[in-house]
Amino acid sequence: MVNFKVSRVESAPIEGQKPGTSGLRKKVKVFTQPHYLHNFVQSTFNALSADKVKGATLVVSGDGRYYSKDAIQIIIKMAAANGVRRVWVGQNGLLSTPAVSAVIRERVGADGSKASGAFILTASHNPGGPNEDFGIKYNMENGGPAPEGITDKIYENTKTIKEYLIAEGLPDVDISVVGVTKFEGPEGQFDVDVFDSANDYVKLMKSIFDFQSIQKLVASPQFSFCYDALHGVAGAYAKRIFVEELGAQESSLLNCVPKEDFGGGHPDPNLTYAKELVARMGLGKSQAEHEPPEFGAAADGDADRNMVLGKRFFVTPSDSVAIIAANAVQSIPYFSSGLKGVARSMPTSAALDVVAKHLNLKFFEVPTGWKFFGNLMDAGMCSVCGEESFGTGSDHIREKDGIWAVLAWLSILAYKNKENLGGGKLVTVEDIVRQHWATYGRHYYTRYDYENVDAGAAKELMAHLVKLQSTLADVNDIVKGIRSDVSKVANADEFEYKDPVDGSISKHQGVRYLFEDGSRLVFRLSGTGSEGATIRLYIEQYEKDSSKIGRDSQEALAPLVDVALKLSKMQEFTGRSAPTVIT
Ligand code: G6P
Ligand code: ZN
Repeated sequence: MVNFKVSRVESAPIEGQKPGTSGLRKKVKVFTQPHYLHNFVQSTFNALSADKVKGATLVVSGDGRYYSKDAIQIIIKMAAANGVRRVWVGQNGLLSTPAVSAVIRERVGADGSKASGAFILTASHNPGGPNEDFGIKYNMENGGPAPEGITDKIYENTKTIKEYLIAEGLPDVDISVVGVTKFEGPEGQFDVDVFDSANDYVKLMKSIFDFQSIQKLVASPQFSFCYDALHGVAGAYAKRIFVEELGAQESSLLNCVPKEDFGGGHPDPNLTYAKELVARMGLGKSQAEHEPPEFGAAADGDADRNMVLGKRFFVTPSDSVAIIAANAVQSIPYFSSGLKGVARSMPTSAALDVVAKHLNLKFFEVPTGWKFFGNLMDAGMCSVCGEESFGTGSDHIREKDGIWAVLAWLSILAYKNKENLGGGKLVTVEDIVRQHWATYGRHYYTRYDYENVDAGAAKELMAHLVKLQSTLADVNDIVKGIRSDVSKVANADEFEYKDPVDGSISKHQGVRYLFEDGSRLVFRLSGTGSEGATIRLYIEQYEKDSSKIGRDSQEALAPLVDVALKLSKMQEFTGRSAPTVIT
């Protein structure tokens, strides 16, 4: 066994190490500065209670982006020096964010050990490579991201750090080979356990879904399928699950080899960045050469986001979570005894609200950010949740889960087509969505993003909207002057949330204008941008009349868009005559 010593390396604070909603994300060049990663990792160890470090088991892995392999070796050595008992690493350093959450919650080591936390190395849907982004975040014992109390402490520690501990004489561990390597340090044994990236996650998925019924769907000649991992870590799971377990053709997989730079692309599953999939599904400008598949889906770099498509048909994330909730009990064994409750983030459309009402389910509207769902789930109050930002998930783990969402959709398709698989016409993704609208009404929905706007101008625009919202009569005068074909504003406010579990209050979570007919305009500033400010404008209109649910959504929403832009004085404040991205 190799022996190592602990060396204390003198260091000093480096500015700007405040973790955002999903950890610390910076350019690779920032992370590779001397002591940069070390300071953050030591500050994290120092923020945790001693029992979560000394003698503990930690997971270290991520989406495989550039610099991950070096970062893993550094964290292993620092964990050893800080008295951690063992580090679990996914083979080649790969674990999706949802798989990390599953490993923390479910994996039991040969000696009965359980993990108490994880360093996840990812910058999610941001591009990777030497000139792009790297990121690190810490997840806790419940499998969810560290709460603000911990991330604040980490940040405070980065501002006062004087030294970090690192193992000396501990060689790099070969993380491409599954197996345990044992070392001996001043505090005793230290192990690095490299394990299969997919096993624990696949086992969990098999305990949630009826794989046999999905296999039958996939095997049916009427069905065809396409999955695009955008060269992110989802590829490590897609082949195992879709091809090996469910019998899909290998040609169903697009960009499913994880790459350090995501093939130079932007690993964000939306209609703009998942170009190849969008073309294959017959969407967008270019017509597909072949008949598009019946079902398509994509994931982001760390595989927690998802986009679901039907043949020539886009499912909005807000509709997706509502449809999963409406069909979960019949289609997914994990939910067969009922849903504990459902939840969405505030800017997500109210499609889920209508389902909750019909099915008499507990319902929660939380601020943007997955951590708010985690609290509800830990308290047994929520089973299914989702966000407009392409995140969907359930209480099987404490992160959103891209592959879970795809399996949920495949389960619904399998259930709806139980009787049709021998021949005859398949119930398609589009049929399911249109049927849902016919039953519950349709929430026309669009989001306008104004990226990299001057931060001061963005603040002024928000302040203007906050002020305006306090006098409804004025708001309605302005609205009436802009369009006569939109309904009256019945209510407006700045969204504030009191967590029903821990009582904490989150203020200033976006400005809402709620119309009498159920339409909504929501304005908020993004919490994930890296340059300037990003203003997001969410526009939604509810249509109950089944003869009016088939319109093009941009066309249906045009009057509200007009009102939103003029009410907010968008162009006046930002100088922008058009948004950067429309989804
Ligand atoms: C991350 C979080 C999501 C959240 C999203 C919002 O992806 O994990 O929970 O919805 O950021 O991003 P925004 O840029 O709108 O603040
Ligand atoms: Zn992600």
